[in-house]
Amino acid sequence: MNRTLVICKPDAVERGLVGEIVGRLERKGLTLVAAELRTIAADTAGQHYAEHQGKPFYDELVSFIGRSPAMVMVVEGPDDTWKIVRTLMGVTNPADAAPGTIRGDLATEMGENLIHGSDSAESATREIGIFFPALG
Ligand code: RTP
Ligand code: MG
Repeated sequence: MNRTLVICKPDAVERGLVGEIVGRLERKGLTLVAAELRTIAADTAGQHYAEHQGKPFYDELVSFIGRSPAMVMVVEGPDDTWKIVRTLMGVTNPADAAPGTIRGDLATEMGENLIHGSDSAESATREIGIFFPALG
């Protein structure tokens, strides 16, 4: 089995969409193995989004991800579970995300796109280590 990191971002918690999002992951056949509702501190957000440091949207991104509690989770499935989650999420900009995806069905703005999913097997390992070191 294979694991990936998923975050229901603060907008998802604020809008009461955690159940909807987790339900979609579960109906697909993925299993929750860890979950914690937590307010992501700026230093943790900096580690998590290190690849985006220096980009014009970075400060806004770190501020957004920590503005209120997020549901941080590890989900498990078959090989390349990260890819299954990314397909369910839809592309980064909800305006371009296909109907049937989480972002396509439930979001409108790039900065409020509800869900994070690791973008590779290496990212999944790295990100699980940041948020759930005991599972790393
Ligand atoms: P995430 O990491 O949050 O799961 O999203 P993602 O892989 O689909 O997108 P990524 O390229 O990693 O970007 C991280 C988040 O930064 C915001 N973003 N804004 N204004 C922009 O051009 C821009 N590009 C990215 C989005 O909120 C995106 O989720
Ligand atoms: Mg990303």
